[in-house]
Amino acid sequence: MNSSMRRIVYLSTATRLMSDLELMDVLRVSRENNTRDGVTGLLLYQGGNFIQLLEGESAAVDTVYARVMKDPRHHSVLRMLDNESPERLFPGWSMGFRPTASLGDELKQEIAEFIIKAPQEATTTDGRRALRLVSSFVQSMR
Ligand SMILES: Cc1cc2nc3c(=O)[nH]c(=O)nc-3n(C[C@H](O)[C@H](O)[C@H](O)COP(=O)(O)O)c2cc1C
Repeated sequence: MNSSMRRIVYLSTATRLMSDLELMDVLRVSRENNTRDGVTGLLLYQGGNFIQLLEGESAAVDTVYARVMKDPRHHSVLRMLDNESPERLFPGWSMGFRPTASLGDELKQEIAEFIIKAPQEATTTDGRRALRLVSSFVQSMR
């Protein structure tokens, strides 16, 4: 049933620092569209960087990702992970959001490291760090 499930994790840089109101606007539209398109995922925002995980049926994820990449509110999008996955990590979240200030120190450190190492690691294919980061995040939610 989920044979063509796809997962993308990317990192990007906000064109300018986002206010809470602007972030909420991105989230509102994302949740509406993603509910319609059967896409779930997670958005992290830390110090001017976005990390987003998108998961769902492959064609749907492609469409959303293509639309998001063109958004002028961010740039320098680095795809850190793009693979097939048998199941969703965030099945109930049309777009989960966490301001990173609310996260534990270890996770914050992992996010900081992820952002620093991203330019080198985006060119490698396995997305190991992206996967580890997202897994830690899922653990912290339990
Ligand atoms: C960091 C970031 C993440 C986004 N994530 C999503 C998303 O998950 N789903 C989505 O539909 N739009 C997302 N958007 C918004 C899209 O870029 C675009 O503005 C929106 O999909 C247009 O929707 P509309 O045609 O319904 O107005 C995101 C934008 C930014 C800046």
